[in-house]
Order: sequence, then structure tokens, then C-alpha cells
Amino acid sequence: MHTDPTDLPAPSRLPSRPELPDPLEFRDGSPVESTADWRDRRAEIRQLLRQYVYGYAPGAPEIETATERTPGVCGGAATLVETEIAFADLPPDAPAITLALFLPADAVDAGRSVPVLLGLNWRGNHAAVADPAVTITDTAREHGGFEEEAADRGAAADYWCVEHVLSRGYGFATHQFADIDPDSGDPADGIRPYYDDELPGPPGTEWGVLAAWAWGLQRCVDALRPMEAVRAEEIIVLGHSRCGKAALLAGATDERIGLVAPHQSGTGGTALDRDNDQEGVGDITGTFPGWFADTYAAFEGQVDRLPVDSHCLAALVAPRPLIDTAGARDHWTNPGRALDAVRAAEPVWDLLGAEGIADDLPLYGDDEIADETVGSICHYRRETAHTLNEGYLDAVLDFADVHFDGAG
Ligand code: GCU
Repeated sequence: MHTDPTDLPAPSRLPSRPELPDPLEFRDGSPVESTADWRDRRAEIRQLLRQYVYGYAPGAPEIETATERTPGVCGGAATLVETEIAFADLPPDAPAITLALFLPADAVDAGRSVPVLLGLNWRGNHAAVADPAVTITDTAREHGGFEEEAADRGAAADYWCVEHVLSRGYGFATHQFADIDPDSGDPADGIRPYYDDELPGPPGTEWGVLAAWAWGLQRCVDALRPMEAVRAEEIIVLGHSRCGKAALLAGATDERIGLVAPHQSGTGGTALDRDNDQEGVGDITGTFPGWFADTYAAFEGQVDRLPVDSHCLAALVAPRPLIDTAGARDHWTNPGRALDAVRAAEPVWDLLGAEGIADDLPLYGDDEIADETVGSICHYRRETAHTLNEGYLDAVLDFADVHFDGAG
């Protein structure tokens, strides 16, 4: 089901279809009726998303890792494992990832492995907790809005709630997105130029920033999976806003990721492009031209020509669990069209024999997230604007508790 990318039509030559493309129908109109058919349709959707939305990313390079372990972090609650992830095929001065993994101390002491929440951060790993053991990287000093150490350490503590996550029996892993791409608007920054020659598509389909961040998250998965302390099948990828878009793309295109949790990811994330009265294709590609493949901008004013929409991206997660979280007052991310997307993706879970949506969605506030209330798909809201906090993290972890084998 892989078409030569040069054979795919330009956006203006794609047929207009105002209704959502059916994830269970091939481009040529034939139906998807079996798991084997779905493998082919999955590959087709993946390629269409690359070609017309996010751009083609390079394959997985060999990684080189160097790890440092510090026990007794966060007042004794955590062991910190910092891993430098470099790319063997790139020169030594090329971008590298500094991944900070916080493990619950009691699990480490008991020799127990844990599920891990993995997410991109904005300001630097040291902003996630106040402990001085966390390295303040050069990237953070350069790109994290760094001012002074005392104010910066733990500046995002209420956002990530790391100690709370650990107390629930999960590890927490994070790296700053600027390690891969600083989001400066200049395509010469970050990792993308190093792989220019390896991308399979025609001009205009090269990976954008979101695809680069997603690729970087997948390299973190490469590094995390072999670690004894990590349950390789229970890595959750979570991200907020632009990082939520990257998290969804990473999780959708990498079946090693055990659970996918885009948070307030909006346009380019879970929210559909069709009938989206908030951030439109023209808005997002106008303000952030580097986030996507150049082809995507051509759909401004003609989203009906997109052969995929965000529900197709969400469907690539199936049959794995997907929780989409949204702020009821976060209008710009269009929670309504995100909910429509997960609903429209559900038939793929059904086809694969997994229960999709169990109860009525959305779940809201203190609604219970448990075996009886959720299937493999959840859309959950809190009464907030655009933010991440403990309430959302608890929803994701409650959902993960349902799907993973007794965490912690
Ligand atoms: C802007 C953008 C959104 C994005 C958000 C963010 O608001 O329009 O698409 O999600 O920035 O990442 O903070």
C-alpha cells in the first residue's frame, strides 16, 4: 500500500469530499474488512499524513547513549536517570537529546519495573522539579527562556506534578523539545537539516517541526525500552498543545508506544480540520509555517480535499489505548471537534476486536475512569483553559491503570 510519493496528486488535484474520509475505506473506494486489510489501510493513511500534513521523517538511526544515575532526588522520592541520546550517523556537534527519567524510589528499591509517562517539555528538564541534581543543559540556557537558576528550577513543577506521578507508581521521562528543534521558525536550526538527503518524498513533503519532535520522542522510546527499570510495553506518550500534536503523531506512528495521551492538542493534533471554526489550516500554517510539510498549507480554504483528517491519525493508535484530554474553556483547541475525531476513529477499534468507547463521552471532572466506564478510547475534559495540571495527569494515569497490569 505504499505509493511512490511522486505519484500522489498535488492538493488541488485531490477530489473534494466535505464529509470525513472513512478510515475503513481505501482511497480507491474498496472496503477495509479484516485485520490484514487494516494493515494495508494503516500504511496508506500513514503515507497520506506524511505526504499532505506532517512530512516524511527519516528512519530510525542507531543511537548512542550515555547514562548517569542519581538516587535520592526529590527529597528521596526519586532516582534520576539522565541519558544523553546521540545519533551514530551524525557528526559529534549535531543535536542530541538529554532525557531525564525520574523513577519512583520505592520501585527502584524493590527492583520493580514501572510504566513510564514520556513527554516533551518547553523550558528544560530542570524546570520539572526543584531538585538541583537535574542538569541544566546548554539547550535550556539557550532556548528555554532561562533567567536564573533559583527561579528556573522547578518552575514547571505544578504543570508536570512529577512527585505525584511517581507516587502513583509511574516513572516520568522528559526532554526539552529544543534538543531536536528549537521552534525558532528557521528550518536550518535543529536536527532536520542533517537528514535532508534521506527523505523519501518530493519537494514540499519534508518533515516539519512536529514530525521532528515526534521522531525524537521515538528515539527516547529506543533508549527507554531496554532499561530494566522501565516496562517496555507500558510507555505512555503525553504532551500538551504543540507537544500534544507531536505526542499524538509519535504514538500513532510507533506501535511500541503502549498508550497515547494528547492533551489540548488542537489543530494538527486531535481536532479535525473539517468544520473547525477555531484554528484553521491557514491560521496554523500562517503563524507556524515550519510545523508541517509545506503541502499542508495548500489546504487552506479547501480542507475538503484532504484525503485524511485527524480521526485517521487517531485511528492509527488502534487497538492501543488513546485518551484525549481537553479543557472545556480551551476554545482554540476545539474540544468538540477533537471528540468528533475520536468518535469517527472508533470503527477501527471495533474492527480489530477492541472495545472503543464504553460509556458516553466526554467524561468530565470527577467522573470515574475505570474498567466499567472506559474502553480503549477516552475523551476527558476539565473546566480549565489551556493548561496541564494534576487533574489531567490523574485522568491519564487512571486510564493507564485500566489498561496496564496493575501499575506500581
Ligand atoms: C498556538 C497554536 C496552537 C498550539 C499552541 C501551543 O496557540 O495556535 O496550535 O497548540 O500555540 O502549542 O501552545
